[in-house]
Amino acid sequence: MRTKEEETRHVTLETNSSAARSDSFSRTQASEFPAQALRTHFPALVRAGSFIFADNAAGAQVPQQVLDAINQHLIEHNVQRGGRYPHSVAVDAMIAHARASVAAFVNARRTEEVAFGMNATSFIRLISLAIGQTLAHRNEIIVTDLDHEANIATWLALQRMGARFLWWKMRPDGSLHVEDLRPLLSDRTRLVACTLTSNALGSIIDARAAADLVHAAGAEIFLDAVHYGPHGSIDVRALDCDYLVCSGYKIFAPHMGFLWGRYECLRALPTFREDFIPDEPPGKIEAGTFVFENVAGMNAAIQYLGELGRRLAGKAGGPDAQSLRDDVRHGMQAIRAYEQTLSLALIRTLRDSGAHIYGISAEARVSERVPTFCFNLPGRDPQAVTEAAARAGIGIRDGHMYSPRLMSRLDLPVESGAVRVSLVHYNTLAEIDRFAQVLRDLRGPA
Ligand SMILES: Cc1ncc(COP(=O)(O)O)c(C=O)c1O
Repeated sequence: MRTKEEETRHVTLETNSSAARSDSFSRTQASEFPAQALRTHFPALVRAGSFIFADNAAGAQVPQQVLDAINQHLIEHNVQRGGRYPHSVAVDAMIAHARASVAAFVNARRTEEVAFGMNATSFIRLISLAIGQTLAHRNEIIVTDLDHEANIATWLALQRMGARFLWWKMRPDGSLHVEDLRPLLSDRTRLVACTLTSNALGSIIDARAAADLVHAAGAEIFLDAVHYGPHGSIDVRALDCDYLVCSGYKIFAPHMGFLWGRYECLRALPTFREDFIPDEPPGKIEAGTFVFENVAGMNAAIQYLGELGRRLAGKAGGPDAQSLRDDVRHGMQAIRAYEQTLSLALIRTLRDSGAHIYGISAEARVSERVPTFCFNLPGRDPQAVTEAAARAGIGIRDGHMYSPRLMSRLDLPVESGAVRVSLVHYNTLAEIDRFAQVLRDLRGPA
């Protein structure tokens, strides 16, 4: 049985996919989404003038309220947690508040399921080391050739602990298909590690369908939501995953990471902790001190997304802890709808410039991707394209995007790779027009 929220999400995804086919719908969404107004909340965008931030997959800008929260933490209670004096009590309260906000952001069942730390990679390493100690006869781990290397190499390192690996391979359309996962699963499968959305190609994976198959085989699924995070509503209950990792700096917060894990899974994992730390989440997942001011910033970023949803839903009043989940979901759904217009515009721009798009390029499938595109221009080095863009005041990236196996799969030299343009909700159609001009100039006279 689906919960009401899961039902809504299901319907929303379906609606998005049919809506995406209608250009007029998309244009309507573009005109309704307040991208221009939102830009004024991001001091870096205001200060950068006409510079275009189009390398957001490597890190996004932060709104003013994130800066304020970091400052406030450092000025008002920059002390260790766990003390009895007011400053320290305030740190504990801030962490508890941030944990509740992140729990709302991912729709966790309990706040203890959320752990804070350095970044996504260190969490994948931490969980993989624990999983490595539980292999026994279930010693097979399934990884993909679409993922960021952080969600591949960390698992492959378990070979020393007796793990065997199977590869869930991307299809030529640049996506992972669950039918290809089915034959890889067996009673020896311990875990499937896969991305929710590719940081290189932008394809969104049907992770819920994968989770159903994985659980039917008695295994667990670890989702890398780092790239999906800024683009859509994360719902760990609807996804029915077991672990999910995210990075703050991709979702309008500072550099930090968080892990969500199903409470029972986290409880069962043998993690490193000092003897005096109880064997309970989240403490058993959070060895040492993490960067408190960045956790304060993460909380503020979620408030920003919640306020966006609140405003778009026409709700009166300020932030409301009770409805944070609904507000964030609403905000992220609006972002997702708006970003489909950006994806459509990018598909057309790249097609018109003669670029080869790696991954989903059919307009009818725009709902299966986010506005992150890897491409190459015929006869041009990726580096030459990004340098031309830089001269025109546009920040994009060339290279392997930390997905070297994917580049090999695409028959691209790992060192030069491809060009990536990656947009988020503060980017605009006007910026895409300027990017199109750079591509036209590179192409030369027709
Ligand atoms: C999809 C994906 N997974 C994992 C990572 C690694 O994240 P972190 O830098 O937080 O370790 C990245 C970073 O770009 C990413 O895009």
